[in-house]
Amino acid sequence: MADANKIGFVSYDRLRGVLVVFCAEGLKLGPATQKALAPTGELFRRAAGADRFTGKSGSALEIIAPAGLNVPRLVVIGTGKESDLKDRDLVKLGGIAMGKIPAAATQATILAEFGGGALKGDQIAELVLGAWLRAYRFDRYKTKRKEGDEQAGKVDVNFACANVAAAERAWSKVAGTAEGVVWARDLVNEPANVLFPGEFARRASALRKLGVIVEILDVPAMRKLGMGALLGVGQGSAHESRLVVMRWNGGKRAADPIAFIGKGVCFDTGGISIKPAQGMEDMKGDMAGAACVVGLMHALASRKAKANVVGVIGLVENMPDGKAQRPGDIVTSMSGQTIEIINTDAEGRLVLADLLYYTNKRFKPRFMVDLATLTGAIIVALGQEYAGLFSNDDKLVERLVKSGEAVSERVWRMPLGPEYDKIIDSKFADVKNSAGRNAGSITAAQFLQRFVGKTSWAHLDIAGTALGSPQTDINKSWSSGWGVRLLDRLVEDHYER
Ligand code: BES
Ligand code: MN
Ligand code: ZN
Repeated sequence: MADANKIGFVSYDRLRGVLVVFCAEGLKLGPATQKALAPTGELFRRAAGADRFTGKSGSALEIIAPAGLNVPRLVVIGTGKESDLKDRDLVKLGGIAMGKIPAAATQATILAEFGGGALKGDQIAELVLGAWLRAYRFDRYKTKRKEGDEQAGKVDVNFACANVAAAERAWSKVAGTAEGVVWARDLVNEPANVLFPGEFARRASALRKLGVIVEILDVPAMRKLGMGALLGVGQGSAHESRLVVMRWNGGKRAADPIAFIGKGVCFDTGGISIKPAQGMEDMKGDMAGAACVVGLMHALASRKAKANVVGVIGLVENMPDGKAQRPGDIVTSMSGQTIEIINTDAEGRLVLADLLYYTNKRFKPRFMVDLATLTGAIIVALGQEYAGLFSNDDKLVERLVKSGEAVSERVWRMPLGPEYDKIIDSKFADVKNSAGRNAGSITAAQFLQRFVGKTSWAHLDIAGTALGSPQTDINKSWSSGWGVRLLDRLVEDHYER
């Protein structure tokens, strides 16, 4: 597949380069598509017959140098039955279309019409979103190209539309979300020698250009606030910890904000309770929660969301060292609760404990949603298909589940309860940070709940969904940028005035 260089919109009569068109089940073509293929006579029908192509959703028919058409390649993509196509299917079809543009192409046109006829601007924007996400690649550290993987293969992709202005307008509203996902993916893919807490905070401060208020708290500032839980995690690292507060005030002046909180462990060795070597390199992605919050703030600010939103991320590096914290240590969190460190590898909850308490106290938000690559146990429970959802608010759960379905970033509710809570009582302190293997994701969530008070709260355990991601039609990257589209949709559907 080619790398998307530029995306543009043109009218139906400007079909240049590789031509991608859509076709509904039963070889049904829209009028503009029929017109475009007319010079090829029976070619499409004959090729479809030879390849048993019927227009099934996601299937594709490729014809090289089609006689009668002045294009190097014609690709027909099946949409299936169009009556039941949802937004998320459009995103997927956009990704499939982009994936069919060969690496060697320099120009391509995607005819944005389905069997049923012209697409609306909003529908085209969803197609473009899928194409854009599919084209993403993280190759900034590759200095050589493999044979056939043409470096010069940057391609201009145009979407041919009935109403160019409407498509442009719709895309301008969605482009910020696409960029937000790319932001999140880039941050997660970046190695930990480059992206340490200070550098992460510096990158987050780029949000200022969009009108986001960004505050960066350093170690003395956090010490003053009494954040002993977060600071204990970072104390073994040569890189100083940071806390970043991002505020987007697009809502009513006096309205309480909503808050998103992210675990930003730039690298998790496990600390003194060190992890095995196998696969440890993946722990550069242990800041995916924080990356998602930054991507989300970018998305919201770009489209000038009419909501007051706070993003808070805790950036630390968990290292073994002479200064590192030990199992058995007892730290005092900002809330005043003392925590016995049983396992230094259960560090994410320590960071979140102070973030949740701080955010709640300072901003009195309507709700807090935290995102964290918190436990390996959530991967055992749900694999990579669903993120774990824990919450004290049924309404918020319902909304998160719906938004997740709408954008194909799905969440599955897990239980909380006093029986689980009592497992994390400590012999020496108020609470302990680890309680063995049973119900590992739940006891982690119970730990967090001790720091949220009565505020409406949801915790998303994204250890399975944010990194080492399965290859999909809209993501070929190690990191998926999971959560940006889900939360952007949540805000758009429920929290804008
Ligand atoms: N960052 C890990 C969880 C993780 C595992 C994220 C795999 C992504 C992929 C977390 O800090 C951790 O180490 N959790 C421990 C908790 C245990 C020590 C109670 C775990 O899951 O084993
Ligand atoms: Mn850990
Ligand atoms: Zn971790």
